[in-house]
Amino acid sequence: MTTSTLYLFCAAAPPIDYVAGAIEDAQARGWTVCLGLTPTAADWLRDHLGGLEALTGHPVRSAYRRPGEESMWPAPDVICFAPVTANSLNAWALGLTPSWPVGVVVEAVGKGTPMVAMPCVNQALAAHPQVDRSVAALREMGVTVLYGEGGWVPNPSGQGRPSAYPWHLALDAADLRLRQREADGQA
Ligand SMILES: Cc1cc2nc3c(=O)[nH]c(=O)nc-3n(C[C@H](O)[C@H](O)[C@H](O)COP(=O)(O)O)c2cc1C
Repeated sequence: MTTSTLYLFCAAAPPIDYVAGAIEDAQARGWTVCLGLTPTAADWLRDHLGGLEALTGHPVRSAYRRPGEESMWPAPDVICFAPVTANSLNAWALGLTPSWPVGVVVEAVGKGTPMVAMPCVNQALAAHPQVDRSVAALREMGVTVLYGEGGWVPNPSGQGRPSAYPWHLALDAADLRLRQREADGQA
């Protein structure tokens, strides 16, 4: 069984209520999971952070370290940002670092870390032209972006089904990125 490390990053969208199930699925696939949350997502899950730390066996991270502080996490083999909001997606594509998880993935582009992103945006957010631009820009950077057929399909406003967020597709893509990395001899 692999002991590869998956950084699972989540932004503030309703599917995060079900992140424990995604973590358990990733662990069943052999991943060591480290959970990172945007500050808003961490606030939404504030009553569950202890349980999520117990589940992953690592601190849940959402804030930048102070200079000189150790990370406490192993290095990632793959980073999966799901769900990623329009806010965090656009910041990532533009190279902005407004939150710790977005800062990590912006830097990880330069490091060549294999990454997967699956947005969670409704049709109104998706209609903003920057969203398509961000998806295209991230794909050009080598990020696997699961958006459209075979990934996240934007729902009409008010008709989201958070429990049906397809985490398994993001984990399938993370598994694939790991296998590609191993085949490329970088593992
Ligand atoms: C109840 C609720 C549901 C939301 N759902 C979404 C969503 O599905 N997608 C999205 O992009 N933003 C959604 N938002 C807005 C984000 O939470 C907001 O843009 C936030 O600033 C994102 O910050 P983050 O990217 O740092 O997590 C929602 C907000 C609320 C209050």
